[in-house]
This record gives sequence, structure tokens and C-alpha cells, in this order.
Amino acid sequence: PLVSMTEMLNKGKSEGYAVGQFNLNNLEYTQAILQAAEEEKSPVILGVSEGAARYMGGFKTVVKMVEGLLEDYKITVPVAIHLDHGSSFDKCKEAIDAGFTSVMIDASHDPFEENVAITSKVVEYAHAKGVSVEAELGTVGGQEDDVVADGVIYADAKECDELVKRTKIDCLAPALGSVHGPYKGEPKLGFAEMEEIGNLTGVPLVLHGGTGIPTKDIQRAVSLGTAKINVNTENQIASAKRVREVLAENPNMYDPRKYLGPARDAIKETVIGKMREFGSSGKA
Ligand code: G3H
Ligand code: ZN
Repeated sequence: PLVSMTEMLNKGKSEGYAVGQFNLNNLEYTQAILQAAEEEKSPVILGVSEGAARYMGGFKTVVKMVEGLLEDYKITVPVAIHLDHGSSFDKCKEAIDAGFTSVMIDASHDPFEENVAITSKVVEYAHAKGVSVEAELGTVGGQEDDVVADGVIYADAKECDELVKRTKIDCLAPALGSVHGPYKGEPKLGFAEMEEIGNLTGVPLVLHGGTGIPTKDIQRAVSLGTAKINVNTENQIASAKRVREVLAENPNMYDPRKYLGPARDAIKETVIGKMREFGSSGKA
């Protein structure tokens, strides 16, 4: 069923695992992620960036596509449709009105007081409709759609605490050295800060840039209160690789089902691997 993130993240935090947010890019991603979740008996968060929603047609198209698959696939595990890196109150409202069950308001680039103000406004609108809210502080490195950063700025623990208490968000993404897209070398995550922020705020923490983080770092982050980990690029790399292989082996192939089907399988395998690594398998 479609639910907000609140319950799945609180359960993850208290039982010591993280729920994966896997980003949608098209129908095959949605199919693969839902199939993986059902097979693994894992809760799952479908992440939708504004750019990806635009690509797929709009927020309503995304919601109806997900709802259709939930029925056709007889999905029983908890599923959240979450706006990833929402850029404004209006975009969050639009997603909620279309049926999203969760939104992220990313005002991390704004001055702190503005971040508090816009996040509070989103929380007020979202909570009245049973929709969960994620906010961000600091800067995640790299680039994802419209979100570009030219440096990594660590979130400040006191600001995190204040943001959570003043806005009543359901979970917080404190940027602590993670990067969107592949890492150049090993990631250097701020675990000391993560621990402090987890303890001060008490809310489940979110780790963006989940692609390429070694298992030991994932486990450490989960042990410090990280209950949501976002993955997009890893599925994109796996599916593009599979399409290249299939088309190279079959130069006369043109039926999209014959090369997008295998791409879908590659995404499903990748997602299953992450669910096991994050510890969410069997927790639905
Ligand atoms: O918001 C989405 C993510 O943070 C995804 O990061 O593409 O590096 O896996 P990634
Ligand atoms: Zn992100």
C-alpha cells in the first residue's frame, strides 16, 4: 500500500536498518524497484526528482503509474512516493496534491532562517494531509538533475537540531561529505558529526549519494541513526551497461522490450543487493 515514510523510517531507526530510496526514471525503473521490494518483503521509497517527473509527464502521471503497478503486481509491502530535492513550497504542494505521500524540501542552499521558514510552511501543508517531510542542511557534492554543487559543506549540528525542533520535520538529510554520482576515490563521511546530529535531533537521518559508499560505511551510518539511503546513479549505470551489452550482441535488435527488459532485470538485481545491504529485506 501507499504510505508516508514516517512509520517505515521510525521502525528502521529503532530496529537498526535503513530503507532505500530508489529513484524513478521511467516505467521500467518503477517495475524493477516494486518487484524487488515485493520479492524481498522490504519497505521501499520511490524517489522522484522534479526533472524525472517532468521527463515522465508530470506528478500525476507518476502517481497513476505507481498506483497501477501496485494493483497489477499485487504489492503488499509499504511503498512511499517521495519528491526528491523539492525546490520550492509550490513544487511540494503540487506533488502532494497529485498524490505523493512524502516530500523533500531542499532549501539547503538558502540562508538558515529562510530554510526554517520554507520548511515549516511545507510541513504545515504536508502533515495536514498525512504526508511526511524531509529537509536538508549543508551541501551534498556532485550533480543530480537541477541540483548542482561546486563544493561540499558539512551540516552544522546546532543548526540541524534547531531546524528539526522548529519545523517538526520527519527526517533530516545532513550533508556530511556524500556526493551525488560516482565518488572520486573513497567517500569521507563525517561520522562524528552524524552521531552528534542523530543524538541531538532524535529523528531518522537520510544519506544522499548512496552510490559507491562501501558496505562498512553504510553499516556505520545505519548504526548512528541513518534510516534512509538514496540510490540513483548505481541503477542508471547497471541498466545502461546492460542495454549496451544486449545491443552490441544483437546489432539488428529494435524491439524496446528486448533491450529494456534486460535493463529492468539489471535494476531489480541492483535494488535487491541494496535492500540486503541496508538490512530492510524481510522487514515489511
Ligand atoms: O537524491 C538522490 C540521491 O541522493 C542519489 O544519489 O545518484 O549518487 O546514488 P546517487
Ligand atoms: Zn540527493
